[in-house]
Amino acid sequence: MSKNILLLTGSPRKGGNTDKLADAFTTGAERAGHTVVRYRTADKNIKGCVDCKTCFSKGTACSFADDFNELAPLYQQADVVVFATPLYWFSFPVQLKAAIDKLYAFLIGDRPLKIKECLLLASGGDKEERKFEGLVKSYQLIAEFLGWQDRGVLVVPGLHDKDDVVKTEGLRQAEALGQAIA
Ligand SMILES: Cc1cc2nc3c(=O)[nH]c(=O)nc-3n(C[C@H](O)[C@H](O)[C@H](O)COP(=O)(O)O)c2cc1C
Repeated sequence: MSKNILLLTGSPRKGGNTDKLADAFTTGAERAGHTVVRYRTADKNIKGCVDCKTCFSKGTACSFADDFNELAPLYQQADVVVFATPLYWFSFPVQLKAAIDKLYAFLIGDRPLKIKECLLLASGGDKEERKFEGLVKSYQLIAEFLGWQDRGVLVVPGLHDKDDVVKTEGLRQAEALGQAIA
């Protein structure tokens, strides 16, 4: 079955490791017949949630005029969400985290999402995989809370320069994860 995949990227560095992992994932997913919609959170203006609890009450998902209101329909159309992200301070970069925080709107506004599956593609500078544990655990708890099935976590450590991922198995693995979406 062809699925709508929303691929949220978190790095401001254009053409860097995150973007390359996202490209490879997209190649695999499109080959498997899926549609991938890419959303570069770092190019957007999504502010943090202020817990006003007025979501969807003023005609838009968020009552404040920011780019979450263009992202919200993409969340609503998605069957699968992919978070492609660099590791920033052992967690998500703030631009991507804001796009995650505002998922709260769908709870407060009582607009259940049809998303059933998710994946995490992560790159970081540190060589030790344990340094990614905070990010991976956050992702797993978000998935558990929202009832999404985890379809794969790819952690590619030891990446500093924007092309470093090319020297690893990461791109092949990301492409395989995309192709494995059934
Ligand atoms: C603000 C900032 C914070 C970072 N924090 C971490 C970190 O906590 N752990 C780590 O291993 N790498 C950290 N890095 C390095 C990036 O995660 C790494 O270089 C990554 O591959 C960048 O991905 P990109 O090429 O897609 O931008 C940080 C980089 C920046 C700019």
